[in-house]
Amino acid sequence: MLSKKFFVMSMLILIVAFASQSFSYIQRAPGKLKNIKAFPATMTYDEVDHQMDIFKVALGVKCNHCHAQTKESAPKLDMSSDDNPKKDIAREMIRMTRDLNEKYMAQLSNTSKEPLQEITCNTCHRGNIKPEDKVNLDNHRPERPSQGPSNTNTTAAKRFSSLSALARLSNK
Ligand code: HEC
Ligand code: HEC
Repeated sequence: MLSKKFFVMSMLILIVAFASQSFSYIQRAPGKLKNIKAFPATMTYDEVDHQMDIFKVALGVKCNHCHAQTKESAPKLDMSSDDNPKKDIAREMIRMTRDLNEKYMAQLSNTSKEPLQEITCNTCHRGNIKPEDKVNLDNHRPERPSQGPSNTNTTAAKRFSSLSALARLSNK
């Protein structure tokens, strides 16, 4: 009786062991990365693939915005090809975003308990191919003192009117 139970148990364990082994063979075979220039060389195929989904949503585009079609069987895409010029723009964006985090954000002192936010594609793009650069002031009319010229006419406001002027001021 005891040995029968033991037999059944060990068979079960064997079946489970075989099943979990064969599952690892069922897993999708990872593709090969052939043309990585901006991402770290250590990135795996799955990590690149995950970033691609993030790019797609952050810019509100499909894969073909940055990837060119295959010569033989278009409209299939050739992910390794550099024929689509948007891909190289995206590479510059990857480098820029990394620099922003490593050179600038890393210098900020963190006074809160929360970790500092990282700059991502979405920080700027927010679902747009080109980020919105203009601030809409239409619904933002702060109370101003009635006497004197309006703020927009003062020299101070003029000095703040361009980003380069702002940069100069903040360098002091
Ligand atoms: C915003 C542009 C952009 C979008 C959208 C985009 N990709 Fe990419 N993709 C790139 C860039 C840039 C690289 C190369 C990165 C590098 O050089 O480090 C790349 C590389 C790849 C690679 C690796 C190719 C190789 O052989 O090295 C795959 C696979 C890939 N993309 C799949 C996709 C898929 C699938 C989608 C849609 C879900 C997608 N991409 C959307 C820009 C984009
Ligand atoms: C600091 C802000 C900022 C960040 C962060 C940023 N971008 Fe951009 N990106 C821009 C601006 C601004 C433009 C528009 C440039 C122009 O006028 O053509 C742009 C344009 C692009 C374009 C060209 C769009 C087109 O079709 O004309 C691609 C592709 C792109 N970005 C991809 C990315 C990806 C991918 C990331 C993240 C790795 C990223 N960007 C992060 C600001 C940013």
